[in-house]
Amino acid sequence: MSASSLRKTKVKTASASNKWIRQAGSAIHGRGVYARRAIPAGERIAEYTGERITKAEALRRDEARLARLRRGGDGSVYVFELNKRHDLDGRLSRNIVRFINHSCAPNCETAVVRGHVWISALRDIAGGEELTYDYGFPYSEWRNHPCCCGAPDCVGFIVNKAQRWRVRRILKRERKRP
Ligand SMILES: C[S@@+](CC[C@H](N)C(=O)[O-])C[C@H]1O[C@@H](n2cnc3c(N)ncnc32)[C@H](O)[C@@H]1O
Ligand SMILES: [Zn+2]
Repeated sequence: MSASSLRKTKVKTASASNKWIRQAGSAIHGRGVYARRAIPAGERIAEYTGERITKAEALRRDEARLARLRRGGDGSVYVFELNKRHDLDGRLSRNIVRFINHSCAPNCETAVVRGHVWISALRDIAGGEELTYDYGFPYSEWRNHPCCCGAPDCVGFIVNKAQRWRVRRILKRERKRP
């Protein structure tokens, strides 16, 4: 995709401000998103907005991301899986929701409702707390995504919850090797 066609691409943006959240530097990674005030459990906090792209385009962009990473650039993943055919690329969105980091013990969850991705509080969140959700990355890519969430049961890599036991088992075996 050329730079000019990228400029013409319609990117769905949301307001950069939101009464619940603000962005700031994070101990987990780069920028993060923090609660401006106490957020009650179940509150729908914000929408993850971005450009709706096909899986083929998402794959192309991921290859470009990996190439950037190999050159020492930014390897951050901003693509959110919408459904079997489409993804949402938040990279060019003005929405600060794209800065929410992953945690193995998250305080938020995501839900896709009629093509919109919503971030909601999983539990009561105190003002000032960093917001996180589980990225649920696939098992096949776990080694590419080290996790720095700092949760007591962090597996050390960003991988979906159902496969974490496998990663733990592999890491345990590797530690035992002389
Ligand atoms: C959507 S961005 C999140 C915002 C990011 N902190 C930033 O400053 O742009 C996703 C990227 O942030 C990083 N990241 C998010 N959660 C992380 C975690 N728990 N441990 C390490 N890196 C994380 C990874 O590079 C990931 O690809
Ligand atoms: Zn973790």
